[in-house]
Amino acid sequence: MVKIETLTKPSIKLIEKYVPGGSYSNNDKKIIKLSSNESPFKIPNKVYSEGKSLIANSNFYPDGDSKILKDSLSKVFYLNSNKIICGNGSDDILSIISQTFSVENCEVICSEFGFTYYPIIARASGCKVVFAPTKDLGISCDNILKKINKRTKIIFFANPNNPTGTIIFKDELINFLNKVPKNIIVVLDGAYSEFITDKRYSDGIDLVDKYPNIIITRTFSKIFALAGLRLGWGYSNTRIIELLEKIRGPFNVNSIAQSIGSLILKEKDFFIKSVKHNDEWAKSLPSKINDLGLESYETFANFVLIKVNPLKYSKINIINYLKNKGILVRDLENYKLYDYFRVSIGSTKSLNKFLKELKNALKLK
Ligand SMILES: Cc1ncc(COP(=O)(O)O)c(C=O)c1O
Repeated sequence: MVKIETLTKPSIKLIEKYVPGGSYSNNDKKIIKLSSNESPFKIPNKVYSEGKSLIANSNFYPDGDSKILKDSLSKVFYLNSNKIICGNGSDDILSIISQTFSVENCEVICSEFGFTYYPIIARASGCKVVFAPTKDLGISCDNILKKINKRTKIIFFANPNNPTGTIIFKDELINFLNKVPKNIIVVLDGAYSEFITDKRYSDGIDLVDKYPNIIITRTFSKIFALAGLRLGWGYSNTRIIELLEKIRGPFNVNSIAQSIGSLILKEKDFFIKSVKHNDEWAKSLPSKINDLGLESYETFANFVLIKVNPLKYSKINIINYLKNKGILVRDLENYKLYDYFRVSIGSTKSLNKFLKELKNALKLK
């Protein structure tokens, strides 16, 4: 009998399946889900009500070019629509980039403690994955530069980084980009960009005209509260975008996501409310957690990283205690952050409940 495993690229064997944050079973509305960095807010009613008529037209394929969405993105972010590609979530765009720019025996650099989907798509494309060590849990541009060699084709990192919440400011980013050879594609994953109010940050969009080798990826899953619809986009120069457009699925973005996505972009009040809510909690949540006796860190995104000292507490008991109380947080075992877990910035009510139950969990030891 044929051994099916021998029919794939050898790198496929090294893939560890993506483990998502804990989720609802049976649509249990009482569960507080703080495990996947989703928005705590429902989209505005007037955007939601558009969905019905869109479903009625589901017998037709969507527009493969996602034109209305590109037009809205270009208006809202002041972009050239020919430099945009839309995808079925930003993970679709990341995967398309990997397929497009990998060659046989090439290497892809990812940061240690980075988004676990990058190694999956790199290996799926046949690449060898090289991990650059972090510095103080943050992405180290120097360590990434040290890993570059003749075989390097792509560098992936998220800024801010998931799951650590750390950031690389614009001056450091520019310094890094100046040192990366231009035949290496640098993917700046800005899944959490919109949450940042710090002026020292650049999402990289302003750098696309200067650096011919960078690609920005963005999502509607976080600030725009559309994780369930699956919608993301990428931004780069037209030569790169034309290549990516050839590789994407013919109708990779469904018609509902295209329309709802272009409507949510216009909801300025919703956007402002979401940033403000996140900002307030991002500033206060780490210290509230530290006050309880755990170690938490500054964050630039919509989640907080938490360290559990194994000499004092059992992380797994804490996570299970919270789960029994209906609160789902993200264990970071598969990120190899063995003493850590992550909590999303949910609604104020959810976070207050989380803090109350976390306190109770710590009493138990
Ligand atoms: C850094 C990072 N990039 C990309 C994604 C994927 O987002 P999307 O829902 O757009 O596929 C996530 C999701 O959590 C993420 O954390």
